[in-house]
Amino acid sequence: MEGASILQVNELTQTQLLSLFALASDLETGRRTASRALEGVIVLTAFFEPSTRTRLSFESAAHRSGASVISVPDGRVSSVHKGESLADTGVMLNSYADIVVLRHPSGTALDDIRATRLNIPLINGGNGCAEHPTQAMADWYALHKRCADRDGAEIPLRPGRRRSLGVIGTPRRMRALRSFLLMGAVHFPHLLREVTVVSEDPQPLDAELAKALADASLPVVCTADLRQHVGRFDIVYQNSLTLVGTEYEVFDSAFRIDGDTPLKPDALVMHPLARLSELGADLDGTPHNLYFDQADGAVFVRQALLLAVAGRLDRIRRSDPEDLG
Ligand code: CP
Repeated sequence: MEGASILQVNELTQTQLLSLFALASDLETGRRTASRALEGVIVLTAFFEPSTRTRLSFESAAHRSGASVISVPDGRVSSVHKGESLADTGVMLNSYADIVVLRHPSGTALDDIRATRLNIPLINGGNGCAEHPTQAMADWYALHKRCADRDGAEIPLRPGRRRSLGVIGTPRRMRALRSFLLMGAVHFPHLLREVTVVSEDPQPLDAELAKALADASLPVVCTADLRQHVGRFDIVYQNSLTLVGTEYEVFDSAFRIDGDTPLKPDALVMHPLARLSELGADLDGTPHNLYFDQADGAVFVRQALLLAVAGRLDRIRRSDPEDLG
């Protein structure tokens, strides 16, 4: 992956993802250390849309490996706000950084910033409603870890029990849900038995998503009746907030998940966060809660990704067993 740009889920292979998950797990548990592996590398986070988790976890990941970090934390403080094109901005970035992580409300921003001459690796931190591939990596990493814990297995998970997945929201309009489903259909269909989409939108999937799920031979049900189906779900992925143009709107707010929802006793509840009223805080202290794991593990998945893209995997060291206790 050295020098690669990470723009969308289908550019990654299953082998790459599982290697990154294994490395992330080793970094998270301290089995391997990469504390100086990115020394001399400059990571630029360019965020033209609000973020807590994505920007800060990338920056934390970079700092944990000794990279330097520079940031455009808000598009209004860059010259794009004065009318400069993203293409011209991209040309400048070549001189200022070695890797750029971009978030932008436009689905075409990745093409726009590469239109003239952006030579350094570009990582998509969320582009409009289109994709959020590193969120999907954090999501599937969290799922692999929790399922491995429950099954007494190791990461990567081997094909075993297939799970019923319910996604609540409108994937064609929600980039985190969209990338999560694409990654599941393309790379991890062997972990799924069926997919149910609970949405007020009668056509919640776009053509690419529908094809990916069909190609994976996953049965798909689209419904607006949460209570009829929720008791069947092993995994519930909830989301409501989405971009419409440059503004945020709440979709599918009728489908709240909380402690009164008749979930399966061992159901895992996922959410990319930020949450509003669609996800009750009364689930936070329960074993259903996978959403905080998604956010926590994102640092290590993104650290693994930065190390791979920077070509610094050879600088990762096994920890001294005595340090692990
Ligand atoms: N999940 C996610 O993308 O969160 P932020 O918008 O806070 O980065």
